[in-house]
Amino acid sequence: MPFDRYSTPVRTETELTLAIVQVGKLAEKVGFKNGAKSMIMTAASELGRNILKYAGSGNIHVAPLVKDHKKGIELIAMDHGPGIENVDLAMQDAFSSGGTLGLGLPGVKRMMDEFTLDTTPKRGTTVTIRKWV
Ligand SMILES: Nc1ncnc2c1ncn2[C@@H]1O[C@H](COP(=O)(O)OP(=O)(O)OP(=O)(O)O)[C@@H](O)[C@H]1O
Ligand SMILES: [Mg+2]
Repeated sequence: MPFDRYSTPVRTETELTLAIVQVGKLAEKVGFKNGAKSMIMTAASELGRNILKYAGSGNIHVAPLVKDHKKGIELIAMDHGPGIENVDLAMQDAFSSGGTLGLGLPGVKRMMDEFTLDTTPKRGTTVTIRKWV
């Protein structure tokens, strides 16, 4: 399914909404049903919101996965923002430097099967998540 991969810039609320819609469409094509599809869209929303809030702008890539008869979806949210100083802290429930709930990243990790966070202070952040049908 090479034509189903998308890369969407996330610079505004409108672009984030578009990215979330595209993620939902691909998730459905891959075979995710209501609950799992919602989780994937929520993950895209949380990561995209972090991009807008902390980095100002970035990109969300989404692609279908196939591995040993399994199907899945991969989302990569990347930005060239300030990065995260303390990843352990950022991954804790209720830690927020922005005055909100601080449940975004740990919540996304719980909803997905695979979660990788790469960040370098002053360089940016890349979060890669995968979920299998
Ligand atoms: N893309 C990013 N760039 C820089 N810092 C980030 C980024 N994403 C998350 N962070 C840092 O990690 C912290 C935790 O993120 P998380 O999404 O869990 O919580 P939050 O965004 O503060 O609150 P919530 O998501 O519940 O509204 C943030 O407060 C911020 O300090
Ligand atoms: Mg957040």
